[in-house]
Amino acid sequence: MFRPRFRRCSLRRLILLGSALLIFLILVVNLTPATRRLPQYTGRYDVGVLDLEVEVEKRVIKGFGDVMLKGVGEKAFELQTLALTLYYPSTPPAPSPKSPRSPPHARPWLPQPISLIGTGYARIANIYFPPLQSLFSVGLWLFGRNIMIPGTVDAPLLSPGEISKLAVEGGRDGNGNGGGGVELREGKNGDRDGEEKGELPCVVFTHGMGRMSQSYSHYLGSVASYGVVVAAIEHRDGSGPGTIIHRSDGSERTVWHLGLKDLENDPPMTAPSLIAAQLAFREAEIKETIRLFRLLNAGHGDLLINLKPDSPRTVLPAFKDRLNISAVTVVGHSYGATGTLQALKNAPNEEMPINGAIALDPGKQSGKLNTEVGLPVLVMNSGAWTEKQTKFYELGWHFVVVKDLVKNIREGWFMTLAGSAHPSCTDVPLIIPWIMKIATWTSLNAKVALAEYVDVSVEFLNYLKNGEKKGVLKSRILSPAGPLGDSKMRKKIRGTEGAAWEIHVVPEKK
Ligand SMILES: *[C@@H]1O[C@H](CO)[C@@H](O)[C@H](O)[C@H]1NC(C)=O
Repeated sequence: MFRPRFRRCSLRRLILLGSALLIFLILVVNLTPATRRLPQYTGRYDVGVLDLEVEVEKRVIKGFGDVMLKGVGEKAFELQTLALTLYYPSTPPAPSPKSPRSPPHARPWLPQPISLIGTGYARIANIYFPPLQSLFSVGLWLFGRNIMIPGTVDAPLLSPGEISKLAVEGGRDGNGNGGGGVELREGKNGDRDGEEKGELPCVVFTHGMGRMSQSYSHYLGSVASYGVVVAAIEHRDGSGPGTIIHRSDGSERTVWHLGLKDLENDPPMTAPSLIAAQLAFREAEIKETIRLFRLLNAGHGDLLINLKPDSPRTVLPAFKDRLNISAVTVVGHSYGATGTLQALKNAPNEEMPINGAIALDPGKQSGKLNTEVGLPVLVMNSGAWTEKQTKFYELGWHFVVVKDLVKNIREGWFMTLAGSAHPSCTDVPLIIPWIMKIATWTSLNAKVALAEYVDVSVEFLNYLKNGEKKGVLKSRILSPAGPLGDSKMRKKIRGTEGAAWEIHVVPEKK
């Protein structure tokens, strides 16, 4: 009785919703400190940041070439350009005497235009009424307008000489940039030749549902600050709030968050087929990112045109001979973690020369997980992801499915960071810590949680390089069944930042 009537008075409902949202935003803005700085990255090197969009061979995703965007008349799953944000170790920017405020310049945390992202999130919340959508944009603007990503846009790439120089001098000091074990900073065990040429390991990062590549700037920038070149893909599969494709002919297309109602196909798309299409789209973008690494390493950086408006490209030629193409690791969160595991199918191969993967909170509703994995994998669950168990398709508890998957990998780790929640690896808890705490009941400090994720990720990347196990990777199994077993069997080990890890699977001893 009540609901249909309420639905009919949709204007009243909108006004109600709108004013509630407005009051909420005013409260939020008043209760949050005025300047919000993202913390410095935890590693030793400075970090360069670059938004890049490059042309790729235009093609549709196999099997989904006929799916159209309703009312737009364009193919929904056509790859047109590749957009990503590069985070890379850089030389410290020289202070500019002329205008200290312009270069070295910083990158706003919110992608521009903000209204695109605000409208996108409103659409995700099923709000299509423009004034209400604007409220979302205003909210984002109030929150995020002053937030800058630490790091210098288009900064020079760290030179090979500086890698060794810094190695002698030791880690970052002062500034409270502790974080990370000393061991992480001193790992110089790779082969000397490569060190001298300064070949850097690479990471391709794939984001979660409803998120953007920049939602993870602290985690990714920190990994880069240990000497890794990270490419965070801005997926165009319709999983994010919104993104603009800038074609080389100057035309643009906005990709909004996609639901089944936005798609036209015969037979109509279903939830599983949308997931399959998006995962295939993401895989194509991962392949293109690795292709881009190859182009940069081969010295074609000066031929690449950056289609991202107002984004420079000076640093690109410097990547010549600086990327270790045999050390590309795929890292993903949530939907992206599902995609990461999928990318390992048949890998390594010519198109996917990857050496391993890190999966953060593999999706619970983003499709079944690929179990054909022949490369080292680290699965890190947040505390909440492990505690709250649900049935995963018809395969049983999610925890058990993941555990069995990892157990069957020759070099696989599965662990849980106690007291963290699903968004703990994103920037969100750094920006709105108290909302996060209330909404997710996290008990672990946001910075500590992120530093733990970074440390273990870097330790895993080092393991891929030299086979050495450090930190929690050295641990034996301490909690074989997690929340599903006897609680007395749930032991924990302290990480480098003092947080507690539960270790569920480690590689078997030979
Ligand atoms: C490149 O990566 C491979 C695989 O991780 C590693 O064995 C090799 O030592 C790396 N080379 C350099 C130059 O660091």
